[in-house]
Amino acid sequence: MEGLRIVEHPVLARAVTVLRAAETTREEFRVALEEASWTLAYEALRDIPVEEVEVETPLERTTGARLARPVMVVAILRAGLGMVNGFLRHVPDAAIAHIGMRRNEETLQPEGYYESLPAGVAESAVFVVDPMLATGGSAIAALRRLRAAGAEDLRLVCLVAAPEGVRAVREAEPEVPILAAALDRQLDERGYIRPGLGDAGDRIFGTE
Ligand code: PRP
Ligand code: URA
Repeated sequence: MEGLRIVEHPVLARAVTVLRAAETTREEFRVALEEASWTLAYEALRDIPVEEVEVETPLERTTGARLARPVMVVAILRAGLGMVNGFLRHVPDAAIAHIGMRRNEETLQPEGYYESLPAGVAESAVFVVDPMLATGGSAIAALRRLRAAGAEDLRLVCLVAAPEGVRAVREAEPEVPILAAALDRQLDERGYIRPGLGDAGDRIFGTE
């Protein structure tokens, strides 16, 4: 689908399969989510700008690289928290923002309940993370909030996306690239992604 990049990697495919399986324990789920997020983050960070720097090796001076702009990871609560460490393993000094959003189970509309945005949104390469892109309502609300806070360089990183959510985000935010590990078949009548992996937040936090 236009605007969506599916990351294909054996390690990621294995982790997604562990996450999908109903018998996966909470511990295994958390470990697999961190592994998958690490791989997704590696790919998501691939095209961020770098600048040349001089570095002194024990033997001589040479040129190296450093990130040209700060990185900010925005976790959509709760489930997005499970993807933050995957990014921090690549960019340990990234700023971390939190946007609390709960999907109303009847209307499927996101309801905001918390927000913490560090300074520097406008200057940062901003990665919005949430394992599930279902109707797209939560992601769109988060992206709009970040735009209002001055964000210009935005990306959305998910684990499992539904075609309906990808289309909705594309329509609302055509400039925002979406990266995912899997594009699933469809949403069901309750707004769950099929085949999906169930309720990501519940599986991470044990609130099933
Ligand atoms: C889930 C998921 C996304 C959202 C996706 O969160 O983590 O944030 O639903 O659905 P959408 O694309 O239709 O908006 P939920 O609201 O269940 O909250 P949780 O992370 O606290 O479980
Ligand atoms: N949120 C989830 O956690 N899972 C879905 O399938 C849809 C929304």
